[in-house]
Amino acid sequence: MTSGNDGGPVLGLGVVGLGGASLAMIPKFAKNPGYRIAAAADIDEEILGRFRADNPETETYAAMELLCKSPSVDLVYIATPNRWHSEHARIALENKKHVLIEKPMTITLDEADVMIKTADDNGVLLGVNVKHSFEPRVLKLSQLAASKEFGALRMINSWRYADWLYRPRTGEELTPAFGGGILWRQGPHQFDILRTIGRGMVRSVRGLAATWDAARRVPGCHTAYLDFEEGAVATAVFSGYDHFDSRELVHGPGTVPAETHAQARAELRNAPTADWEEEAARAERYGGERQMSAEPRPTGPGGGWILGGPMVVSFDHADVQLSPAGLEVFDDERRYEIPMVEPGVDGRDGRINTYYEAIVNGKPLPADGRWGKATLELLLAIEESGAKRAEVRLSHQVPAVDV
Ligand SMILES: NC(=O)c1ccc[n+]([C@@H]2O[C@H](COP(=O)([O-])OP(=O)(O)OC[C@H]3O[C@@H](n4cnc5c(N)ncnc54)[C@H](O)[C@@H]3O)[C@@H](O)[C@H]2O)c1
Repeated sequence: MTSGNDGGPVLGLGVVGLGGASLAMIPKFAKNPGYRIAAAADIDEEILGRFRADNPETETYAAMELLCKSPSVDLVYIATPNRWHSEHARIALENKKHVLIEKPMTITLDEADVMIKTADDNGVLLGVNVKHSFEPRVLKLSQLAASKEFGALRMINSWRYADWLYRPRTGEELTPAFGGGILWRQGPHQFDILRTIGRGMVRSVRGLAATWDAARRVPGCHTAYLDFEEGAVATAVFSGYDHFDSRELVHGPGTVPAETHAQARAELRNAPTADWEEEAARAERYGGERQMSAEPRPTGPGGGWILGGPMVVSFDHADVQLSPAGLEVFDDERRYEIPMVEPGVDGRDGRINTYYEAIVNGKPLPADGRWGKATLELLLAIEESGAKRAEVRLSHQVPAVDV
Protein backbone atom coordinates (compact mmCIF):
# COMPACT_ATOMS: atom_id res chain seq x y z
CA MET A 1 0.00 0.00 0.00
CA THR A 2 1.13 3.56 -0.70
CA SER A 3 -0.43 6.80 0.42
CA GLY A 4 -3.12 8.32 -1.79
CA ASN A 5 -3.65 11.99 -2.64
CA ASP A 6 -6.50 12.37 -0.17
CA GLY A 7 -4.37 10.95 2.60
CA GLY A 8 -6.03 7.55 2.42
CA PRO A 9 -4.08 4.55 1.23
CA VAL A 10 -4.20 3.53 -2.43
CA LEU A 11 -4.51 -0.20 -2.97
CA GLY A 12 -2.43 -1.79 -5.69
CA LEU A 13 -4.64 -3.93 -7.90
CA GLY A 14 -3.52 -6.94 -9.91
CA VAL A 15 -5.89 -8.07 -12.67
CA VAL A 16 -5.75 -11.73 -13.70
CA GLY A 17 -7.56 -12.53 -16.97
CA LEU A 18 -8.24 -9.75 -19.50
CA GLY A 19 -11.53 -11.08 -20.87
CA GLY A 20 -15.07 -9.74 -20.96
CA ALA A 21 -15.43 -9.51 -17.20
CA SER A 22 -12.26 -7.42 -16.80
CA LEU A 23 -13.29 -5.02 -19.55
CA ALA A 24 -16.13 -3.73 -17.43
CA MET A 25 -14.14 -3.71 -14.16
CA ILE A 26 -10.86 -2.10 -15.27
CA PRO A 27 -12.41 1.36 -15.95
CA LYS A 28 -14.11 1.27 -12.54
CA PHE A 29 -10.85 0.54 -10.71
CA ALA A 30 -9.01 3.07 -12.91
CA LYS A 31 -11.21 5.99 -11.90
CA ASN A 32 -11.56 5.01 -8.22
CA PRO A 33 -9.10 7.02 -6.09
CA GLY A 34 -8.73 4.11 -3.67
CA TYR A 35 -7.08 1.88 -6.26
CA ARG A 36 -4.19 1.90 -8.68
CA ILE A 37 -3.99 -0.75 -11.40
CA ALA A 38 -0.50 -2.00 -10.63
CA ALA A 39 -0.32 -5.24 -12.63
CA ALA A 40 -2.14 -7.46 -15.11
CA ALA A 41 -1.68 -11.07 -16.20
CA ASP A 42 -3.03 -13.15 -19.06
CA ILE A 43 -1.76 -16.32 -20.71
CA ASP A 44 -2.85 -14.97 -24.10
CA GLU A 45 0.24 -13.06 -25.23
CA GLU A 46 -1.53 -11.02 -27.88
CA ILE A 47 -4.20 -9.79 -25.45
CA LEU A 48 -1.58 -9.05 -22.80
CA GLY A 49 0.43 -7.17 -25.43
CA ARG A 50 -2.57 -4.97 -26.26
CA PHE A 51 -2.98 -4.17 -22.58
CA ARG A 52 0.74 -3.41 -22.23
CA ALA A 53 0.61 -1.03 -25.20
CA ASP A 54 -2.26 0.90 -23.60
CA ASN A 55 -0.76 0.81 -20.10
CA PRO A 56 3.04 0.98 -20.35
CA GLU A 57 3.38 1.91 -16.66
CA THR A 58 1.60 -1.23 -15.48
CA GLU A 59 3.46 -4.46 -14.68
CA THR A 60 2.41 -7.27 -17.00
CA TYR A 61 2.88 -11.01 -16.53
CA ALA A 62 2.20 -14.08 -18.62
CA ALA A 63 2.02 -16.11 -15.41
CA MET A 64 -0.41 -15.13 -12.69
CA GLU A 65 1.91 -16.75 -10.12
CA LEU A 66 4.43 -13.94 -10.76
CA LEU A 67 1.78 -11.23 -10.50
CA CYS A 68 0.83 -12.67 -7.11
CA LYS A 69 4.42 -12.20 -5.91
CA SER A 70 4.59 -8.54 -6.92
CA PRO A 71 5.01 -6.20 -3.93
CA SER A 72 2.97 -3.59 -5.85
CA VAL A 73 -0.17 -5.72 -5.56
CA ASP A 74 -2.47 -5.68 -2.52
CA LEU A 75 -5.67 -7.04 -4.09
CA VAL A 76 -5.88 -9.57 -6.92
CA TYR A 77 -9.00 -9.44 -9.09
CA ILE A 78 -9.39 -12.89 -10.67
CA ALA A 79 -11.42 -13.01 -13.88
CA THR A 80 -10.34 -16.31 -15.40
CA PRO A 81 -12.75 -19.06 -16.47
CA ASN A 82 -14.81 -20.65 -13.67
CA ARG A 83 -12.91 -23.92 -13.38
CA TRP A 84 -9.65 -22.07 -12.55
CA HIS A 85 -11.10 -19.88 -9.81
CA SER A 86 -10.17 -22.05 -6.83
CA GLU A 87 -6.60 -22.66 -8.03
CA HIS A 88 -5.95 -19.02 -8.92
CA ALA A 89 -7.50 -17.81 -5.66
CA ARG A 90 -5.34 -20.22 -3.68
CA ILE A 91 -2.16 -18.91 -5.31
CA ALA A 92 -3.07 -15.28 -4.62
CA LEU A 93 -4.22 -15.94 -1.05
CA GLU A 94 -1.11 -17.94 -0.18
CA ASN A 95 0.89 -14.93 -1.32
CA LYS A 96 -1.09 -12.95 1.27
CA LYS A 97 -3.00 -10.91 -1.29
CA HIS A 98 -6.66 -10.05 -0.82
CA VAL A 99 -8.77 -11.61 -3.57
CA LEU A 100 -11.81 -10.42 -5.50
CA ILE A 101 -12.95 -13.50 -7.38
CA GLU A 102 -15.37 -13.39 -10.31
CA LYS A 103 -18.70 -15.15 -9.90
CA PRO A 104 -19.41 -17.99 -9.34
CA MET A 105 -16.62 -18.13 -6.72
CA THR A 106 -15.95 -21.71 -7.86
CA ILE A 107 -17.89 -24.81 -8.88
CA THR A 108 -17.77 -27.20 -5.90
CA LEU A 109 -18.47 -26.71 -2.19
CA ASP A 110 -15.19 -28.43 -1.25
CA GLU A 111 -13.24 -25.93 -3.33
CA ALA A 112 -15.17 -23.07 -1.75
CA ASP A 113 -14.25 -24.37 1.72
CA VAL A 114 -10.56 -24.50 0.80
CA MET A 115 -10.68 -20.95 -0.57
CA ILE A 116 -12.37 -19.63 2.61
CA LYS A 117 -9.89 -21.45 4.86
CA THR A 118 -6.89 -20.30 2.83
CA ALA A 119 -8.00 -16.67 3.16
CA ASP A 120 -8.53 -17.07 6.91
CA ASP A 121 -5.21 -18.87 7.39
CA ASN A 122 -3.33 -16.14 5.58
CA GLY A 123 -5.10 -13.23 7.26
CA VAL A 124 -6.47 -11.77 4.01
CA LEU A 125 -9.95 -11.19 2.60
CA LEU A 126 -11.85 -13.10 -0.05
CA GLY A 127 -14.73 -11.35 -1.81
CA VAL A 128 -16.93 -12.39 -4.73
CA ASN A 129 -17.62 -10.05 -7.63
CA VAL A 130 -21.41 -10.33 -7.60
CA LYS A 131 -21.47 -6.76 -8.83
CA HIS A 132 -25.18 -6.53 -9.67
CA SER A 133 -26.06 -7.36 -6.06
CA PHE A 134 -24.41 -4.02 -5.20
CA GLU A 135 -26.55 -2.06 -7.68
CA PRO A 136 -28.13 0.80 -5.66
CA ARG A 137 -31.69 -0.33 -6.57
CA VAL A 138 -30.98 -3.87 -5.40
CA LEU A 139 -29.42 -2.63 -2.14
CA LYS A 140 -32.41 -0.35 -1.53
CA LEU A 141 -34.77 -3.32 -1.93
CA SER A 142 -32.64 -5.29 0.51
CA GLN A 143 -32.83 -2.38 2.99
CA LEU A 144 -36.62 -2.19 2.53
CA ALA A 145 -36.83 -5.89 3.36
CA ALA A 146 -34.76 -5.34 6.52
CA SER A 147 -36.53 -2.16 7.67
CA LYS A 148 -40.04 -3.50 6.93
CA GLU A 149 -40.98 0.01 5.78
CA PHE A 150 -43.64 -1.53 3.49
CA GLY A 151 -44.31 -4.45 5.85
CA ALA A 152 -42.84 -7.92 5.56
CA LEU A 153 -41.11 -9.09 2.39
CA ARG A 154 -43.42 -11.66 0.78
CA MET A 155 -42.37 -12.46 -2.78
CA ILE A 156 -39.68 -11.70 -5.38
CA ASN A 157 -40.22 -12.62 -9.02
CA SER A 158 -37.46 -12.21 -11.61
CA TRP A 159 -37.70 -13.01 -15.33
CA ARG A 160 -35.08 -12.84 -18.06
CA TYR A 161 -35.15 -13.97 -21.67
CA ALA A 162 -32.07 -13.22 -23.77
CA ASP A 163 -29.73 -14.48 -26.50
CA TRP A 164 -26.96 -15.71 -24.18
CA LEU A 165 -26.61 -19.25 -25.53
CA TYR A 166 -26.10 -18.23 -29.15
CA ARG A 167 -23.68 -15.34 -28.73
CA PRO A 168 -20.08 -16.47 -29.32
CA ARG A 169 -19.21 -18.79 -26.41
CA THR A 170 -15.92 -20.38 -25.42
CA GLY A 171 -15.40 -24.11 -24.92
CA GLU A 172 -15.35 -23.36 -21.17
CA GLU A 173 -18.79 -21.81 -21.36
CA LEU A 174 -20.20 -24.74 -23.33
CA THR A 175 -18.89 -27.44 -20.97
CA PRO A 176 -21.10 -28.25 -17.97
CA ALA A 177 -18.25 -29.75 -15.91
CA PHE A 178 -16.25 -26.51 -16.25
CA GLY A 179 -19.04 -24.33 -14.89
CA GLY A 180 -20.55 -23.59 -18.29
CA GLY A 181 -24.18 -22.96 -19.22
CA ILE A 182 -26.61 -20.30 -18.19
CA LEU A 183 -27.12 -21.44 -14.61
CA TRP A 184 -23.39 -21.10 -13.89
CA ARG A 185 -22.70 -18.01 -15.93
CA GLN A 186 -25.84 -15.89 -15.42
CA GLY A 187 -27.46 -17.65 -12.45
CA PRO A 188 -24.78 -16.39 -10.03
CA HIS A 189 -26.05 -12.85 -10.62
CA GLN A 190 -29.75 -13.62 -10.65
CA PHE A 191 -29.74 -15.84 -7.56
CA ASP A 192 -27.32 -13.61 -5.68
CA ILE A 193 -29.67 -10.66 -6.26
CA LEU A 194 -32.59 -12.74 -4.94
CA ARG A 195 -30.57 -13.72 -1.86
CA THR A 196 -29.49 -10.09 -1.33
CA ILE A 197 -33.08 -8.80 -1.38
CA GLY A 198 -34.35 -11.83 0.59
CA ARG A 199 -31.60 -11.24 3.21
CA GLY A 200 -29.65 -14.38 2.46
CA MET A 201 -31.20 -17.37 4.16
CA VAL A 202 -32.74 -19.72 1.61
CA ARG A 203 -34.40 -22.73 3.24
CA SER A 204 -35.09 -24.86 0.18
CA VAL A 205 -35.34 -24.77 -3.59
CA ARG A 206 -37.17 -26.60 -6.35
CA GLY A 207 -35.64 -25.91 -9.73
CA LEU A 208 -34.45 -27.06 -13.11
CA ALA A 209 -31.59 -26.18 -15.46
CA ALA A 210 -32.39 -27.63 -18.88
CA THR A 211 -30.54 -28.39 -22.12
CA TRP A 212 -32.92 -28.20 -25.08
CA ASP A 213 -30.44 -27.83 -27.96
CA ALA A 214 -28.09 -30.79 -28.39
CA ALA A 215 -25.82 -28.64 -30.56
CA ARG A 216 -25.22 -26.34 -27.54
CA ARG A 217 -24.47 -28.96 -24.95
CA VAL A 218 -25.03 -26.92 -21.77
CA PRO A 219 -28.18 -25.86 -19.99
CA GLY A 220 -29.55 -22.82 -21.81
CA CYS A 221 -32.33 -22.02 -19.36
CA HIS A 222 -33.27 -22.40 -15.74
CA THR A 223 -36.25 -21.84 -13.51
CA ALA A 224 -36.49 -22.08 -9.73
CA TYR A 225 -38.74 -21.55 -6.72
CA LEU A 226 -36.93 -20.44 -3.54
CA ASP A 227 -38.36 -20.62 -0.03
CA PHE A 228 -36.62 -18.26 2.43
CA GLU A 229 -36.31 -19.12 6.13
CA GLU A 230 -38.48 -16.17 7.18
CA GLY A 231 -41.34 -17.14 4.85
CA ALA A 232 -40.77 -15.03 1.74
CA VAL A 233 -40.60 -16.87 -1.58
CA ALA A 234 -38.95 -16.09 -4.91
CA THR A 235 -39.10 -17.32 -8.47
CA ALA A 236 -36.43 -16.97 -11.11
CA VAL A 237 -36.67 -17.64 -14.82
CA PHE A 238 -33.80 -17.29 -17.29
CA SER A 239 -33.85 -18.43 -20.89
CA GLY A 240 -30.86 -17.84 -23.13
CA TYR A 241 -32.44 -19.45 -26.20
CA ASP A 242 -32.57 -16.21 -28.23
CA HIS A 243 -36.29 -16.16 -28.88
CA PHE A 244 -38.07 -13.66 -26.61
CA ASP A 245 -36.16 -10.61 -25.28
CA SER A 246 -37.46 -9.69 -21.82
CA ARG A 247 -36.04 -6.16 -22.01
CA GLU A 248 -39.37 -5.36 -23.74
CA LEU A 249 -41.16 -6.11 -20.47
CA VAL A 250 -39.07 -3.42 -18.76
CA HIS A 251 -38.80 -0.79 -21.48
CA GLY A 252 -42.12 -1.28 -23.29
CA PRO A 253 -43.52 -3.19 -26.30
CA GLY A 254 -41.55 -2.72 -29.50
CA THR A 255 -38.48 -1.22 -27.81
CA VAL A 256 -36.34 -4.15 -28.94
CA PRO A 257 -36.16 -3.61 -32.74
CA ALA A 258 -37.79 -6.43 -34.73
CA GLU A 259 -34.86 -6.49 -37.17
CA THR A 260 -32.53 -7.60 -34.34
CA HIS A 261 -34.67 -10.67 -33.59
CA ALA A 262 -32.62 -13.90 -33.35
CA GLN A 263 -29.48 -12.10 -34.60
CA ALA A 264 -27.18 -14.17 -32.39
CA ARG A 265 -28.57 -17.43 -33.80
CA ALA A 266 -28.25 -16.13 -37.36
CA GLU A 267 -24.64 -15.05 -36.89
CA LEU A 268 -23.74 -18.45 -35.45
CA ARG A 269 -25.62 -20.32 -38.18
CA ASN A 270 -23.74 -18.32 -40.83
CA ALA A 271 -20.32 -18.78 -39.19
CA PRO A 272 -17.74 -19.04 -42.00
CA THR A 273 -15.48 -21.62 -40.30
CA ALA A 274 -15.61 -24.19 -37.49
CA ASP A 275 -13.32 -22.14 -35.26
CA TRP A 276 -15.15 -18.86 -35.89
CA GLU A 277 -16.97 -19.01 -32.57
CA GLU A 278 -13.87 -19.43 -30.39
CA GLU A 279 -12.14 -16.60 -32.29
CA ALA A 280 -15.21 -14.35 -32.00
CA ALA A 281 -15.31 -14.99 -28.24
CA ARG A 282 -11.60 -14.15 -28.06
CA ALA A 283 -12.26 -10.93 -30.00
CA GLU A 284 -14.55 -9.84 -27.15
CA ARG A 285 -11.59 -9.67 -24.76
CA TYR A 286 -9.22 -6.77 -24.06
CA GLY A 287 -8.59 -4.72 -27.20
CA GLY A 288 -10.49 -7.15 -29.41
CA GLU A 289 -12.58 -5.97 -32.32
CA ARG A 290 -15.81 -7.33 -30.86
CA GLN A 291 -14.97 -5.93 -27.43
CA MET A 292 -18.07 -5.32 -25.37
CA SER A 293 -18.10 -2.80 -22.60
CA ALA A 294 -20.26 -1.86 -19.66
CA GLU A 295 -22.21 0.33 -22.08
CA PRO A 296 -25.61 -0.87 -23.32
CA ARG A 297 -25.57 -3.25 -26.28
CA PRO A 298 -26.20 -1.41 -29.57
CA THR A 299 -29.33 -3.45 -30.24
CA GLY A 300 -32.36 -2.28 -28.30
CA PRO A 301 -32.72 -0.67 -24.90
CA GLY A 302 -29.88 -0.51 -22.42
CA GLY A 303 -30.08 0.05 -18.71
CA GLY A 304 -27.51 -2.52 -17.66
CA TRP A 305 -27.80 -6.12 -16.61
CA ILE A 306 -30.42 -5.59 -13.91
CA LEU A 307 -32.93 -4.15 -16.41
CA GLY A 308 -32.61 -7.17 -18.70
CA GLY A 309 -35.99 -8.40 -17.53
CA PRO A 310 -38.71 -7.52 -15.05
CA MET A 311 -38.34 -8.02 -11.33
CA VAL A 312 -41.19 -7.26 -8.94
CA VAL A 313 -40.69 -7.36 -5.19
CA SER A 314 -43.83 -7.68 -3.05
CA PHE A 315 -44.19 -6.50 0.53
CA ASP A 316 -47.36 -6.46 2.70
CA HIS A 317 -48.14 -2.91 1.58
CA ALA A 318 -46.43 -2.44 -1.77
CA ASP A 319 -45.21 -4.04 -4.96
CA VAL A 320 -41.94 -2.49 -6.11
CA GLN A 321 -40.39 -2.87 -9.54
CA LEU A 322 -37.04 -1.80 -10.88
CA SER A 323 -37.42 0.98 -13.42
CA PRO A 324 -34.88 2.74 -15.65
CA ALA A 325 -34.94 5.74 -13.28
CA GLY A 326 -35.02 3.95 -9.95
CA LEU A 327 -37.69 2.01 -8.11
CA GLU A 328 -41.39 2.23 -8.97
CA VAL A 329 -43.60 1.76 -5.91
CA PHE A 330 -47.22 0.63 -6.08
CA ASP A 331 -48.42 0.95 -2.48
CA ASP A 332 -51.84 0.80 -0.76
CA GLU A 333 -52.77 4.27 -2.02
CA ARG A 334 -50.54 5.53 -4.77
CA ARG A 335 -47.98 4.82 -7.42
CA TYR A 336 -44.71 6.75 -7.38
CA GLU A 337 -41.03 6.51 -8.27
CA ILE A 338 -38.04 6.63 -5.95
CA PRO A 339 -35.42 8.21 -8.23
CA MET A 340 -32.11 6.52 -7.64
CA VAL A 341 -30.03 6.44 -10.77
CA GLU A 342 -26.76 8.35 -10.64
CA PRO A 343 -25.21 8.52 -14.13
CA GLY A 344 -22.12 6.34 -14.44
CA VAL A 345 -22.66 4.58 -11.10
CA ASP A 346 -23.58 0.91 -10.94
CA GLY A 347 -23.03 -2.12 -8.74
CA ARG A 348 -19.38 -2.38 -9.69
CA ASP A 349 -18.70 0.85 -7.81
CA GLY A 350 -20.44 -0.51 -4.71
CA ARG A 351 -18.51 -3.75 -4.92
CA ILE A 352 -15.09 -2.13 -5.07
CA ASN A 353 -15.90 0.64 -2.57
CA THR A 354 -17.12 -1.84 0.06
CA TYR A 355 -14.01 -3.93 -0.54
CA TYR A 356 -11.83 -0.87 0.00
CA GLU A 357 -13.66 -0.10 3.27
CA ALA A 358 -13.11 -3.68 4.44
CA ILE A 359 -9.38 -3.71 3.66
CA VAL A 360 -8.53 -0.18 4.78
CA ASN A 361 -11.05 0.55 7.53
CA GLY A 362 -11.83 -2.96 8.76
CA LYS A 363 -15.54 -2.82 7.91
CA PRO A 364 -17.36 -6.15 7.40
CA LEU A 365 -16.90 -7.37 3.82
CA PRO A 366 -20.26 -7.97 2.12
CA ALA A 367 -20.39 -10.85 -0.40
CA ASP A 368 -17.39 -12.58 1.12
CA GLY A 369 -16.37 -16.22 0.61
CA ARG A 370 -19.07 -17.59 2.91
CA TRP A 371 -21.74 -15.60 1.09
CA GLY A 372 -20.36 -16.79 -2.26
CA LYS A 373 -20.44 -20.38 -1.01
CA ALA A 374 -24.11 -19.97 -0.07
CA THR A 375 -24.99 -18.80 -3.60
CA LEU A 376 -22.90 -21.67 -4.98
CA GLU A 377 -24.88 -24.09 -2.80
CA LEU A 378 -28.07 -22.72 -4.31
CA LEU A 379 -26.83 -23.27 -7.89
CA LEU A 380 -25.83 -26.84 -7.07
CA ALA A 381 -29.20 -27.43 -5.38
CA ILE A 382 -31.07 -26.25 -8.49
CA GLU A 383 -29.16 -28.81 -10.56
CA GLU A 384 -29.86 -31.51 -7.98
CA SER A 385 -33.52 -30.56 -7.74
CA GLY A 386 -33.94 -30.82 -11.49
CA ALA A 387 -32.22 -34.19 -11.63
CA LYS A 388 -34.33 -35.60 -8.76
CA ARG A 389 -37.52 -33.69 -9.57
CA ALA A 390 -37.70 -32.87 -5.87
CA GLU A 391 -37.28 -30.00 -3.41
CA VAL A 392 -33.74 -29.66 -1.97
CA ARG A 393 -32.99 -28.30 1.52
CA LEU A 394 -30.00 -25.98 1.97
CA SER A 395 -27.57 -25.91 4.88
CA HIS A 396 -24.77 -23.44 4.10
CA GLN A 397 -26.74 -20.21 3.93
CA VAL A 398 -25.55 -17.02 5.63
CA PRO A 399 -27.40 -13.76 6.28
CA ALA A 400 -26.85 -10.56 4.29
CA VAL A 401 -24.32 -8.02 5.56
CA ASP A 402 -25.68 -4.47 5.33
CA VAL A 403 -23.74 -2.20 3.01
N1 LIG B 1 -17.86 -11.89 -19.85
C1 LIG B 1 -18.40 -11.12 -18.96
O1 LIG B 1 -18.92 -10.02 -19.26
C2 LIG B 1 -18.44 -11.52 -17.54
C3 LIG B 1 -19.13 -10.73 -16.74
C4 LIG B 1 -19.13 -11.01 -15.44
C5 LIG B 1 -18.45 -12.08 -14.93
N2 LIG B 1 -17.79 -12.91 -15.69
C6 LIG B 1 -17.03 -13.98 -15.05
O2 LIG B 1 -15.65 -13.70 -15.21
C7 LIG B 1 -14.90 -14.88 -15.46
C8 LIG B 1 -14.22 -14.78 -16.77
O3 LIG B 1 -15.20 -14.67 -17.77
P1 LIG B 1 -14.89 -13.98 -19.16
O4 LIG B 1 -16.14 -14.00 -19.93
O5 LIG B 1 -14.19 -12.70 -18.96
O6 LIG B 1 -13.88 -15.05 -19.78
P2 LIG B 1 -12.98 -14.94 -21.07
O7 LIG B 1 -12.80 -16.33 -21.52
O8 LIG B 1 -13.49 -13.89 -21.99
O9 LIG B 1 -11.61 -14.37 -20.48
C9 LIG B 1 -10.81 -15.08 -19.60
C10 LIG B 1 -9.40 -14.56 -19.75
O10 LIG B 1 -8.58 -15.25 -18.80
C11 LIG B 1 -7.37 -15.60 -19.42
N3 LIG B 1 -6.76 -16.70 -18.69
C12 LIG B 1 -7.10 -18.02 -18.69
N4 LIG B 1 -6.28 -18.73 -17.87
C13 LIG B 1 -5.42 -17.82 -17.34
C14 LIG B 1 -4.32 -17.92 -16.43
N5 LIG B 1 -3.95 -19.08 -15.91
N6 LIG B 1 -3.66 -16.79 -16.10
C15 LIG B 1 -4.01 -15.60 -16.62
N7 LIG B 1 -5.03 -15.46 -17.51
C16 LIG B 1 -5.72 -16.55 -17.85
C17 LIG B 1 -7.76 -15.94 -20.85
O11 LIG B 1 -6.67 -15.90 -21.73
C18 LIG B 1 -8.79 -14.84 -21.13
O12 LIG B 1 -8.21 -13.68 -21.66
C19 LIG B 1 -15.91 -16.04 -15.36
O13 LIG B 1 -15.88 -16.54 -14.05
C20 LIG B 1 -17.25 -15.36 -15.60
O14 LIG B 1 -18.32 -16.04 -14.93
C21 LIG B 1 -17.76 -12.63 -17.02
